[in-house]
Amino acid sequence: MSKRPHWLDNAVFYEIYPQSFKDTDGDGIGNINGITEKLPYIKELGCTAIWINPCYESPFGDAGYDISDHCRVAPRYGSNDDLIRLFEVAHRLGLHVLLDLVPGHTSWEHPWFKESMKAERNEFTDRYVWTDSVWEEPEGYGSLRGISERDGSCAVNFFTHQPALNYGFYKPDRPWQQAMDSEGAAATREALKNVMRFWLSRGCDGFRVDMAGSLIKNDEEQKGNIALWQDISSFLEKEYPKAAMVSEWGEPSQSLAGGFHMDFLLHFGSSHYNDLFRCERPFFGGEGDASAFVAKYIDSYERSQRKGLICIPSGNHDMDRLARHIKGDKRKLAFAFLLSMPGVPYIYYGDEIGMNYVEGLTSVEGGYGRTGSRSPMQWDSTNNAGFSSAPSQELYIPIDPDPDRPTAEAQLSDGKSLRSEVKRLIEIRQEHKALQSLGEIEFVCDGAEGKPLAYIRSCENERIFIAVNPTDKPFELSVSGVLSDMIYSFGSGAELSGNTCIIGAGSAVFIKLGGDNNDEAL
Ligand code: NOJ
Repeated sequence: MSKRPHWLDNAVFYEIYPQSFKDTDGDGIGNINGITEKLPYIKELGCTAIWINPCYESPFGDAGYDISDHCRVAPRYGSNDDLIRLFEVAHRLGLHVLLDLVPGHTSWEHPWFKESMKAERNEFTDRYVWTDSVWEEPEGYGSLRGISERDGSCAVNFFTHQPALNYGFYKPDRPWQQAMDSEGAAATREALKNVMRFWLSRGCDGFRVDMAGSLIKNDEEQKGNIALWQDISSFLEKEYPKAAMVSEWGEPSQSLAGGFHMDFLLHFGSSHYNDLFRCERPFFGGEGDASAFVAKYIDSYERSQRKGLICIPSGNHDMDRLARHIKGDKRKLAFAFLLSMPGVPYIYYGDEIGMNYVEGLTSVEGGYGRTGSRSPMQWDSTNNAGFSSAPSQELYIPIDPDPDRPTAEAQLSDGKSLRSEVKRLIEIRQEHKALQSLGEIEFVCDGAEGKPLAYIRSCENERIFIAVNPTDKPFELSVSGVLSDMIYSFGSGAELSGNTCIIGAGSAVFIKLGGDNNDEAL
């Protein structure tokens, strides 16, 4: 998979949480046909691809990240045929579709695990990470024990009901720890490839890979995980060279070395992503500091440049909604940044209309604090915000009760809405190669407290200067090229004079740059 599918060069993704997007059969929960029905909405926004969270059969103790049948769409969402039809409709619209691949664990209800718990040796005995005594727990991992005939404790990967699949240990140091090339670990790897074959052969365009760096155990430097993904990469290159792969890893220098085309910056790990949108004083709130983010970004970018793409999401199903922390027009500035950075942007459903985090909800399907970010999409002002015709009390998660909650319908017809701004920004990105996935970036100002973020994106002969200033003061920036056409301006924009730009408070600008290449970083 190291050869990148061309469509990623200008891709903009839209993440869909299937439970909450659109219900077409009135049972209060979203479904595959609902997603298919709304594909034109996503296309109209300008997105080129979607990622759908797990939609497979599951007891739903972790919203579907606890799979009990990898090759069957959960009946509550529809059928395999519905999903195949979704692929077809998406492709006709020019959209690509990534499914979620959950390689690290299954549900404890998965038939593999049921077989693996048996005392008698069988094909699945080594499918999971087991110790050889119920009294010995796998150190460093949570465990599941006392429920199997077999004498052993099974490592878990996330919640207790998600036993860890066995891909081996990087450095086995206990008799029960199997090597990466052991028979059991090799069989798990083959089983994973079969799951991928199943969906890729039915029209899916690739996968978002859950907890991709968690497969090989005792692998501090991730060398084992990198090697495992390199193997999957060569399998894909041979059998499905067009498949696109994005990892939930959060360390591009590792994941891209493993052959992933893209890796997410996330709300955990070392990226300082939270400094921008989700901390006490986020940069896009106007008073924060983006400099640690920029320093880490430059490091990851330089180490991964040309190997793959770094993806900065607006949010996802695991983190607070952007709108919980960033208010009003500052959200537009956040999108001006997200949609002008290198790599592939991901928009979490509803973030384009500023959907809020719904406070005070009881946990649904293992969501806990994440539940408030998973409420139904707000389509219009009809019953249940147009999400479902079910009685409101039967919805999977309640709709945001705010009487002023935003809706897609209202924002579509308002040229000044957040959605219109997001659409405009995507259009501008699509018109300028320098702004797309592969355009280079050079920072001009690192967003340290009181300062804007400013950078130059370039590709071939095109150079575009970008300044985003969420602070409440104008700021003077200079570049050594000639600032020419303003291709985007929000807020009061900027005053330009020669090579100097005074970016207004609460403003963003994209300006074409002519002249020589020796910009001085401030
Ligand atoms: C990360 C997923 O994004 C999250 O929703 C899930 O709970 C865990 N992985 C476990 O699969």
